Amino acid sequence: MKLAVAGKGGVGKTTIAAWLGDRLARQGRDTWLVDADTALSLGAAMGLAPGDIPAPLIGDAELIRRRVGSGMISLTPEVADLPERLSVKAGLARLLVMGSVAGAGGGCACEANALLKALLAHLVLDRDQWLVVDLEAGVEHLGRGTVAGVDGLVVVSEPSFRGLTVAARVAAMAAELGLSRQVLVLNRATPGESLPDIPGLPPLAATIPPLPGLAARQMGNPSVLGLPEQSDIDAAMNDILAALAAPFPDQPQHPRCVPCATSS
Ligand SMILES: Nc1ncnc2c1ncn2[C@@H]1O[C@H](COP(=O)(O)OP(=O)(O)OP(=O)(O)O)[C@@H](O)[C@H]1O
Ligand SMILES: [Mg+2]
Repeated sequence: MKLAVAGKGGVGKTTIAAWLGDRLARQGRDTWLVDADTALSLGAAMGLAPGDIPAPLIGDAELIRRRVGSGMISLTPEVADLPERLSVKAGLARLLVMGSVAGAGGGCACEANALLKALLAHLVLDRDQWLVVDLEAGVEHLGRGTVAGVDGLVVVSEPSFRGLTVAARVAAMAAELGLSRQVLVLNRATPGESLPDIPGLPPLAATIPPLPGLAARQMGNPSVLGLPEQSDIDAAMNDILAALAAPFPDQPQHPRCVPCATSS
């Protein structure tokens, strides 16, 4: 299954992407993490030293031009060799640092987007493989290319009206693009806290409280793995994965067959 993690800035997307990837990899699944954010923090969250984190693919204009072309771009570029070549081991998972199409430089991001889309389509072909994409904050970057490339969306929010409003907008945009397999995760929230009446929020799959173990290491260590609260984190990740595996009545049978006239 291919998942993307979205939501307002700073709500815990990268942290939860890392926890999901770590959980899946420790369950013995072949797990790929894709950092598709400009901030490029997923590698650090997975405990990699700065020198071990590869440069973002999106910054390699030469590679993009060679694979996708420019002007008349190829929507089916050759990408089969890229994941192995450009990814690194991150714990038991593999990390591919894509970077954000928003950070791809001026002008049209179509080429970069076409490459991202082709990579997402290429990775994960059998059901024991999992892919977790850490997305850029907000709604604007939730493009058809990304949404058409994943099967499920984890929408993260803090327990705030603004965070949840963005979560609802992200959910609506993804649903419009054909991705209705969505769950909400409330982060840094008290379990049992009631949600404001904001229409369009996905069903709540997990509530994660503020973790003292994570707060304690903020200044010295960006890794979010190996915390004293590991068993609670694992339980929350299991809840998220179980909720995503449940039947979603509105989900089209072939989410990747959504007509995609544009690559953005
Ligand atoms: N449940 C939690 N308890 C304590 N600290 C947390 C929790 N979740 C996330 N954090 C911390 O909050 C900060 C923001 O988290 P994170 O970087 O995952 O957010 P983000 O949504 O990816 O942000 P951005 O929009 O900038 O990419 C990090 O320092 C992270 O360690
Ligand atoms: Mg992030």
